Amino acid sequence: MAEELHIGLELNKEQKYIQLLPQIQSLTEGEHNQVANLANISAALMQTFGFWWVGFYLVEGDELVLGPFQGPIACTRIQYGKGVCGTAFAQKKTVLVPDVDQFPGHIACSSASRSEIVVPVIKNEQVLMVIDVDSAKLNDFDAIDQLYLEKLAEMIARKA
Ligand code: SME
Repeated sequence: MAEELHIGLELNKEQKYIQLLPQIQSLTEGEHNQVANLANISAALMQTFGFWWVGFYLVEGDELVLGPFQGPIACTRIQYGKGVCGTAFAQKKTVLVPDVDQFPGHIACSSASRSEIVVPVIKNEQVLMVIDVDSAKLNDFDAIDQLYLEKLAEMIARKA
């Protein structure tokens, strides 16, 4: 296992994702415990991008339950179809929210959160969990985040 991440400080966001994903692959490949891997993935994303909040909500029946994350404390359970996370769970697709105040039903775990992206991890057409990333800046996520977080979701699904 790599003991530390190597991400060039001078790189742009896409270059950082390109450096980060293979390091996440090697960080997780020797470990089968999902909690351990999701915890390290949260930390790697936080360390690289300094998001306000990053982590996982895991599917339990028709709800999402808080999993490993980095950032302030958060709501523990989200119903299917509720909030940004529950919408990504129900629609089985990424939900990108440039301004959380404009998203009907957004669940404000933290009032500092201004924009958000939620990516479902899907295996055999079932949503297993969602990756949730929050920023304290408006409009902080774009198609680059979506592309690479979806690649990360595929990597997690392959191991699940
Ligand atoms: N804002 C999310 C809730 C989870 S927190 O952001 C960590 C939502 O609307 O689903």
